[in-house]
Amino acid sequence: MQKNLIRLVYRSDSCISHDDVSGLDAIFNASIRNNKRNRISGALALPDGKFVQVVEGDRGEVDLLMKRVRADSRHENITILGERLIQARLFKKWSMARPDPTPLSQQSFRIITENGSGAQVTAILLDLMSRAEHRFVAGQIY
Ligand SMILES: Cc1cc2nc3c(=O)[nH]c(=O)nc-3n(C[C@H](O)[C@H](O)[C@H](O)COP(=O)(O)O)c2cc1C
Repeated sequence: MQKNLIRLVYRSDSCISHDDVSGLDAIFNASIRNNKRNRISGALALPDGKFVQVVEGDRGEVDLLMKRVRADSRHENITILGERLIQARLFKKWSMARPDPTPLSQQSFRIITENGSGAQVTAILLDLMSRAEHRFVAGQIY
């Protein structure tokens, strides 16, 4: 078991348009490249002009990542929703997953954009990723 493994969840307000496809791709490309190297896993969703991100990794690596993320002018008003020591990763398959929040119920949408705890946000993003995988396994988008 890895010591000092943590999961951190935050929400922020986007300063770039979520219609800016290449701008968003740039964030994901850098994240996937760096996170693979730094053994960080997680998910980043983009509901309604916000970012909601879960990051998992060694505490030192997560601290370094959050220093860069806090200094990034592509978003503001970063609110930490939770940070805790964990025994195992939930997003170990993804160096930075991109869950699509469109299918969420209004209630779940409010939890991730407004009033959810870190644990609630984590559960919703993980559920979205496992649903997406089902669709992939089934071989068709429905
Ligand atoms: C919402 C948001 C989430 C980000 N998540 C990550 C991340 O998971 N990993 C990462 O390395 N950079 C992430 N970044 C980008 C960092 O702020 C920073 O630009 C990047 O790490 C610099 O890497 P580079 O020197 O390789 O370009 C994120 C940026 C934003 C706006």
